[in-house]
Amino acid sequence: MKIAMVGSGYVGLVSGACFADFGHDVVCIDKDQSKIDRLHEGVMPIYEPGLDALVESNVKAGRLSFTTSLAEGIEGAAAIFIAVGTPSRRGDGHADLSFVYAVAKEVGENLSGEAVIVTKSTVPVGTGDEVERIIRDTGTAHRFAVVSNPEFLREGAAIGDFKRPDRIVIGAEDDFGREVMREVYRPLFLNESPILFTSRRSSELIKYAANAFLATKITFINEMADLCEKVGANVQDVSRGIGMDNRIGPKFLHAGPGYGGSCFPKDTLALLKTAEDYDSPTRIVEAVVKVNDSRKRAMGRKVLDALGGAEASRGKKVALLGLTFKPNTDDMRASPAIAVAQTLIDAGVQVSAYDPEGMEQARPLMPQVTMCDNPYAAIEGADATVIVTEWDAFRALDFARVKELAAAAVLVDLRNIYNPEDVRALGFTYESIGRA
Ligand code: UDX
Repeated sequence: MKIAMVGSGYVGLVSGACFADFGHDVVCIDKDQSKIDRLHEGVMPIYEPGLDALVESNVKAGRLSFTTSLAEGIEGAAAIFIAVGTPSRRGDGHADLSFVYAVAKEVGENLSGEAVIVTKSTVPVGTGDEVERIIRDTGTAHRFAVVSNPEFLREGAAIGDFKRPDRIVIGAEDDFGREVMREVYRPLFLNESPILFTSRRSSELIKYAANAFLATKITFINEMADLCEKVGANVQDVSRGIGMDNRIGPKFLHAGPGYGGSCFPKDTLALLKTAEDYDSPTRIVEAVVKVNDSRKRAMGRKVLDALGGAEASRGKKVALLGLTFKPNTDDMRASPAIAVAQTLIDAGVQVSAYDPEGMEQARPLMPQVTMCDNPYAAIEGADATVIVTEWDAFRALDFARVKELAAAAVLVDLRNIYNPEDVRALGFTYESIGRA
């Protein structure tokens, strides 16, 4: 089966490479000539574990190719995926759909046979209807259906998530759409991954509801962590205790510095906007967005407290370990590290940092931070060391070396990767999240 993937960014490239690996014939399309040139040379536009090898083997097998020409790329494709960006529109938080609509128009104008057009980009409810209208308005003579098929890929684990999904959601309005999508996902269906067929609008909302729910779960446990600190309880025990209830589940209950990334912040805002447009407020999500935003700066203040308060912090030095919004990615979007660094800098603290993959993207976002080649270079002379992101490389720090290099043995662990007793026994002042 031939599949066209319009948009070779994070979602398009991972999905395209995985479909090719299942045996489909996939063409990834992107307007960005330099991106396509680099892909031809085997250079990935993003950091995602395993992606380069997956792309290479499928290109070699002749199942995966790249082009800048949409007309050529969609020729003969039974399914044409739209996987372009839907950033937050400046000012109002609404998802910016201009890229999606531009692709829909170009697809309609270039259809050379019947095809199912699949929206994989995260789009507000009703976008599928508009995509269908745009394609119909191009006057195409070919049969087509517009289907919604949201992605649930986590950065850093995207290939695994694609190949072993909890579920596949397909929002289709007719049998033609459903049949083609069944064929697209047949390899996974044989794998016994459940496929849920819904209406197009339900499918569009599922994506936003899923991300808003996960953001709520994280924010809930983060507030519980604050309460734990006040009442002398341990948030990890509380997470375990509630997570063992099957109705709650153990995942996404790790307290931390607040969620970031490309999806949760953007999608929660877009959901609020949809709720407002339809005059159906989602107050829980409103609170989640506010609580998470204020938490990021509060984490900076937590570090200042560990230095003896804002006054005492002036002129001191702090080392940040980890800058990306989570490990195994180079993505800095909405990373708590940005707010933490800014809060420290505003208080007159000198900040040095190390991140295994994110420093290039971090540099323009935090120009006053000194980027270092390794964790120990960042720690040298520091009055406090802060674990902001739980990269594996920070899970077994050489504490003797840290003590030797740092100006003070103070560790603030915003991801709870260490055991408080162990670190304190080594002579460190240790602060973490929700563990008094
Ligand atoms: C998320 C969704 O998981 C995915 O299904 C969707 O398609 C895109 O958005 P992603 O943004 O890549 O994926 O990262 P995820 O692993 O979900 O983490 C999001 C944020 O929540 C990170 O900042 C992470 O540190 C934080 N988080 C996650 C917590 O603070 N605690 C947790 O228990 C889980």
